[in-house]
Amino acid sequence: MTSGAAKADRKMKLSLFMTGDGNYHMAGWRLPGSTNDAGQNIQRWIDAAQAIERAKLDMLFIADAASPPGTDDLATQSLTARIDRMDPIPILAAVAMTTKNLGLASTMSTTYLEPYNLARTMASLDHVSGGRAAWNIVTGSNKDDALQFSRESHAPHGERYERAEEFVDVVRGVWDSYDDDAFPRDKESGVYLRPDKAHFLNHKGKHFRVRGPSAVPRSPQGHPVLIQAGSSEPGMNISARVADIAFTSQSALKTAKTFYDNLKSRCDRFGRRPEDLLVMPGALLFMADTESEAQEKYDKLNSLIPLKVAMQRLTQNLGGVDLSKFDLDKPLPDIPTNNARVSSVESYLTISRREGLTLRQMAMRSAAAKHHWTIIGSVKQVADELEAWFREGAADGFNILPSDVPGAIAGLADKLAPELRRRGLFREEYEGKTLRENLGLKRPADLSTRASAARGA
Ligand SMILES: Cc1cc2nc3c(=O)[nH]c(=O)nc-3n(C[C@H](O)[C@H](O)[C@H](O)COP(=O)(O)O)c2cc1C
Repeated sequence: MTSGAAKADRKMKLSLFMTGDGNYHMAGWRLPGSTNDAGQNIQRWIDAAQAIERAKLDMLFIADAASPPGTDDLATQSLTARIDRMDPIPILAAVAMTTKNLGLASTMSTTYLEPYNLARTMASLDHVSGGRAAWNIVTGSNKDDALQFSRESHAPHGERYERAEEFVDVVRGVWDSYDDDAFPRDKESGVYLRPDKAHFLNHKGKHFRVRGPSAVPRSPQGHPVLIQAGSSEPGMNISARVADIAFTSQSALKTAKTFYDNLKSRCDRFGRRPEDLLVMPGALLFMADTESEAQEKYDKLNSLIPLKVAMQRLTQNLGGVDLSKFDLDKPLPDIPTNNARVSSVESYLTISRREGLTLRQMAMRSAAAKHHWTIIGSVKQVADELEAWFREGAADGFNILPSDVPGAIAGLADKLAPELRRRGLFREEYEGKTLRENLGLKRPADLSTRASAARGA
């Protein structure tokens, strides 16, 4: 299946991935030109958002987990900026007021929230931003979140995804509480809402009982854009059934293409077309004017990571596996997939086998880039790589991870985006007003319109 690759005039979608202080490389915040207060400094978020909006990127995405990771070894974690993580929603609301076209995406967990709250928050963000909100559906990869929500441990993987399936349906149901024209707000007649255009969900499921209707009228996009970031079997099934975008971490073109084809071919099972789901792998860039400068930057950043920080990060990313018993200079041993992580453990093992990395080297790579695809090179080399993945049908676009802030964001906005545009691969102007319009995605019809269509009316 090459649905994505087929059209010659197809443009790639680009998102900027930020988390916490935004510096994705563990030592990004220590570079002389980097910010070390970006997590809390709202002006930094606004600057980043405005820079990528000037470059016409599709979206700012803020990854999230409710709890800071690694607090059981605070001495090590205190050498990183990872502890610093504001709630993305107020950040995005502030960014909404200072941008016009940029999509605003946030992770929110299906494991620790209630669907009614989430539906209300996301619909509100969609109103505040004039139709630019997106929700990244995750079941949560930070096991420590459980400890903040009156639980002893992270629920089992299968259970989390079962809850996630029902959660997403409730959220979509709450978003369908009102038809588009349910609110005449007619001063003359005194009718604010037409009750015949309001719908009670009356959901009674295994995990949730939600009556509806919502406190928020239907939002500009009907449904905010749905993103899904799990790449295990149940994660892929949620993507194929409901998501508009699948985020994924892929580290080689061949496997990325297999993943892309697999995901697109699943859509049919759920009555959807392959083009209804955009696949956007992550790409972590170490980019400079020349390849040797880019390599220097990468080496410099890596030299700023203490080994114990790298080992802690790898331990977390492998779901809490004890690595202390293994030889640092031997290949990473086979680690079983575990409750916190399934596909990401498999990705680490694949990278370490393919690149012949020792445990020490894998730990450094993990601190630099986790298991994301990493490109070290000049602007031209980076653009060549992205172009190859895009043209070969391994991606509809990319979720770009900045190694350091604001340096990598400036490179993306001022150099890479123009280079991709020059090649005809990236938009000249925003196509529409809402994120759905810019992504080329359909706006879901309201409930009454869907019911009439089903009756053939
Ligand atoms: C681009 C990308 C962004 C992600 N963002 C988050 C996030 O913000 N919060 C989170 O808990 N997990 C996040 N994840 C992790 C996934 O939700 C998921 O837990 C992980 O990919 C393992 O998937 P699996 O359990 O289906 O194997 C992200 C993954 C990817 C690839």
